[in-house]
Amino acid sequence: RGIPQITGPTTVNGLERGSLTVQCVYRSGWETYLKWWCRGAIWRDCKILVKTSGSEQEVKRDRVSIKDNQKNRTFTVTMEDLMKTDADTYWCGIEKTGNDLGVTVQVTIDPAPVTQEETSSSPT
Ligand SMILES: *[C@@H]1O[C@H](CO)[C@@H](O)[C@H](O)[C@H]1NC(C)=O
Repeated sequence: RGIPQITGPTTVNGLERGSLTVQCVYRSGWETYLKWWCRGAIWRDCKILVKTSGSEQEVKRDRVSIKDNQKNRTFTVTMEDLMKTDADTYWCGIEKTGNDLGVTVQVTIDPAPVTQEETSSSPT
């Protein structure tokens, strides 16, 4: 199937209430194409959360942002204020004619550490 046109990390781990960043790298030629971040294990049913406009302008929607760097052909997705329910299969992708390009990224969320306050207010 040839050399992959887009690559990303297999898994990315975040901490509940924290943030995480994902960097996906693409090959030369795709610089001005639209890049997207999609949620859901099934490719054709995944939900696009954010998409670039084909420029390097950052696009933010709710807790998720995407920014393309066309010079080093890397786009960065940031997810903030993480919740346990954000754990899922996501895709880094590039919109193009015909089938889009995409690669899966598994996002895992670790629970926030129990704070002193929560510990001391627990019944004994
Ligand atoms: C690409 O450049 C951006 C902006 O300078 C930087 O944040 C990012 O880490 C770089 N990525 C790579 C893979 O070099």
